Amino acid sequence: PVEMEVPPRPTLFDFHGVSMTKYFTDNWDNVQNFKARPDDILIATFPKAGTTWVSYILDLLYFGQMCPERQTSIPIHMRVPFLEIYLPSLPAGKELADQLPTTPRLIKTHLPVQFVPKSFWEQNCRIVYVARNAKDNAVSYFHFDRMNNVQPEPGDWSTFLQKFMEGKMVFGSWYDHVNGWWEKKQTHSKIHYMFYEDLIEDSRREIDRLCSFLCLSPSAEEKERVITGVMFDNMKQNKMANYSTVHIMDHKVSPFMRKGKVGDWKNHFTVTQNEQFDEDYRQKMKNPTLKFRTEV
Ligand code: A3P
Repeated sequence: PVEMEVPPRPTLFDFHGVSMTKYFTDNWDNVQNFKARPDDILIATFPKAGTTWVSYILDLLYFGQMCPERQTSIPIHMRVPFLEIYLPSLPAGKELADQLPTTPRLIKTHLPVQFVPKSFWEQNCRIVYVARNAKDNAVSYFHFDRMNNVQPEPGDWSTFLQKFMEGKMVFGSWYDHVNGWWEKKQTHSKIHYMFYEDLIEDSRREIDRLCSFLCLSPSAEEKERVITGVMFDNMKQNKMANYSTVHIMDHKVSPFMRKGKVGDWKNHFTVTQNEQFDEDYRQKMKNPTLKFRTEV
């Protein structure tokens, strides 16, 4: 096979108040003019919050039984296109979304709530938002930026953590992202706000809640198939779910399916980093109704 070219690592810049790279802004007008359909389902997350996990759950719930061949031949990033991605050597996410043959269409985004194309609101689409506690989210993002060659250089862990606290990440501030979506959910009934930690604690219960939000009623057998299919070890082995087919990532540096745990932050934060992080967190996270768990 021909070696596919990896585009250079980009630099971060301020885009309407949010740190971004060109790989997610170069197609901006087309993305903003995306035509949603009423039955489209948008999966929205801050990067590394469990996007792939929830994408795969939804894909199996909708299409697991109907088209089993899909499971062995089409990688997850083609089944659930990443709307705003625009990389020289890959198909544009927006084009993939336009061309999706399925109903419903499952579409992934990392956009903060204020950047979501207006058509999703006009069509009153269902949106599944997944959030993950800041500490594990930061750790996961650090390892991702090491292995994904189209992300900015992460630097060492303490540099990276500092930048995370300043919101200088691709897709901006974790704090603004989770809060912005949380506030939107208060007035918009079609947002299902989930937590990575809840999924770890009881994936069966969370899948039941998802099904009731989506008005799905899978058989017991079908539900078991989904639960088994999306277990971490199974997804890690699954070439269609583990991103091993994506040439811009170097899984030897760190696998995409890295640990899949709550609490790995304890292996990364020093005592001092943890104290500073907690203090800063208290300043930024003033809404008492939005609570995260850093262990389960
Ligand atoms: P870690 O780096 O902590 O292991 P995203 O899909 O948003 O990029 O998130 C990736 C994170 O979700 C990674 O976290 C990955 O291991 C974890 N993940 C993916 N599938 C999972 C699963 N089935 N169960 C638990 N964690 C999963």
